[in-house]
Amino acid sequence: MNQDDLKRSVANAALAYVPEGQVIGVGTGSTANFFIDGLAQMRDRIRGAVASSEASAARLRAHGIELFDLNDLTELSVYVDGADEIDNRLCMIKGGGAALTREKIVAAVARQFVCICDESKLVKTLGKFPLPVEVIPMATAQVTRALTALGGTPKLRAGVITDNGNCIIDVAGLQISDPEAFEAQVNSIVGVVTNGIFAQRPADVLLLATAQGVRTLT
Ligand code: A5P
Repeated sequence: MNQDDLKRSVANAALAYVPEGQVIGVGTGSTANFFIDGLAQMRDRIRGAVASSEASAARLRAHGIELFDLNDLTELSVYVDGADEIDNRLCMIKGGGAALTREKIVAAVARQFVCICDESKLVKTLGKFPLPVEVIPMATAQVTRALTALGGTPKLRAGVITDNGNCIIDVAGLQISDPEAFEAQVNSIVGVVTNGIFAQRPADVLLLATAQGVRTLT
């Protein structure tokens, strides 16, 4: 099984969490893309989707899945998305695809967050994957200084502008022993829109693709 096979298998396993007749939240990235392709097979059984990025919106639209504005809904039954790293408490680092802010918003509205990953993403301590931070463009220098003071090595992601018109700073060299506290600390830096730690709203279910099959962790 190559990595794409693992991603496809876990994305297909997540289809079992999709309730009939409802609008569901859909994430961003290569694993989420496999999920969107699987969802297309059951598009007549769902009402539609809220996308966490323009890229996912375009893929959903191409499959004929109706898109909804999050502001027109009071809640979503489920949100399905990948992660860059996840620990055994189901806290995550996300944002490798620069969609972290919209992902966090859609996840916040969902009753259940189902994370879909291959086993390479499961870690003991978050931080090996550089932490993405979405930043207002005029604040990149000041946020870089503040992130350095927190012990990280920040680097502006060259040539990337988010769907919200902002920049991404990736912070390497972190060992995030208290994800919830660090998420709040980084978010309190003036100029930060949000950061890619999902600890205040962790996943509820992790579907983990392994060579032996898909494991379910809660
Ligand atoms: C997008 O911004 C990210 O949060 C993705 O969910 C994450 O990077 C996982 O992507 P892959 O499924 O492509 O590894």
